[in-house]
Amino acid sequence: KILPVLLSGGSGSRLWPMSRELYPKQLLNLCSDRSMIQDTAARVADSARFAPPLVVCNQEHRFVIAEQFRAIGCPPRAIVLEPFGRNTAAACAVAALMAAADDPDALLLVLPADHLIQDTGAFRRAVDRAALAAAAGRLVTFGITPTAPETGYGYIRRGGALTGPEGAGPEGAGLEGVFEVAAFVEKPNRAVAEGYLADGGYAWNSGMFLFPAAVLLAELERHAPAVLEAARAALAAGSADLDFFRLDPAAFGRAPDLAIDVAVMERTDRAAVVPCELGWTDVGVWSALWEVGARDAAGNVLLGDVVAEGASGCYVRSEHHLTALVGIEDAVVVVTDDAVLVAAKDRAQDVKKVVDRLKKAG
Ligand code: GDD
Ligand code: MG
Repeated sequence: KILPVLLSGGSGSRLWPMSRELYPKQLLNLCSDRSMIQDTAARVADSARFAPPLVVCNQEHRFVIAEQFRAIGCPPRAIVLEPFGRNTAAACAVAALMAAADDPDALLLVLPADHLIQDTGAFRRAVDRAALAAAAGRLVTFGITPTAPETGYGYIRRGGALTGPEGAGPEGAGLEGVFEVAAFVEKPNRAVAEGYLADGGYAWNSGMFLFPAAVLLAELERHAPAVLEAARAALAAGSADLDFFRLDPAAFGRAPDLAIDVAVMERTDRAAVVPCELGWTDVGVWSALWEVGARDAAGNVLLGDVVAEGASGCYVRSEHHLTALVGIEDAVVVVTDDAVLVAAKDRAQDVKKVVDRLKKAG
């Protein structure tokens, strides 16, 4: 069985004022009546194929996360608590060490807890394909057809097929639809991203991975030994606490702050890619929620207690205050109990700047 590893680390600052440090976006009901971490867990709840998930999160979120898993009847295998974020390489290293201790052949399906996937069937099929390649020792990525020169994503240059049409490729039968990764470039600058888009041979890295635990550990040893050492020590000196496992802060703090993409995926020669169309969205900004939301005839997504007159192309969300819009176009309006955001939809990225300023102001 595949072991899902749910990563819950980010604070989702571009989704302020709903997303807060103590209640980040993956724990909010932003896209459905469940939170994104609940949706992620439900996608891998099929016990015939998936083991109960391993959750790696910040210790501040432990009770909310435990409660959200209880509410959907998906008890996790463990909730591993980080004293502070050390980025995804350290989180993946901890998960791989825990999994490999029980089963050296374990396959880890690493899933960010803050992604939206609209086509669950396509997701399952992509995972099945990836599982064959992972069982053959590959670190498998899921490649999404890019639609814009986004600079917040990793880009994967597709290489040759792992197997030919007759199933007689170098790594055996059953690997149709899986390709070599000719290059992996994490967050290129704008000009480079534009070149990749024009080239047509690149996919976005979805941020989900299927890793054979033993191969990931070997590649960490080779390319990021300090991360692995810190993760090992943090587990050894860590402690079980109720349903949680607390990593040792002093040891974990020695892990360099590295994304798995940079620590391993850019450097390894074991990478493979499964191109797939999943209706995938990295729900990072309000404009992304407008794109996937249910729009009315005027192109508005109106959620909660909202009235719109002559408004178009707007995303409006107001749970506890009656909010009215008149003659406004392409705006994001989000009203919470203690804050109101009004933004131009095409400037939604800059909400992060407001959050940074508020943080500085204390
Ligand atoms: N537990 C834990 N600890 N989780 C973390 C930490 C951490 O320190 N840091 C990040 N995460 C979680 C985030 O909550 C998110 O679910 C996932 O790991 C990925 O981290 P992000 O910080 O959101 O990465 P990114 O969006 O900048 O880039 C990644 O995702 C892109 C697609 O959305 C990369 O994999 C890119 O290559 C990829 O294109
Ligand atoms: Mg992200």
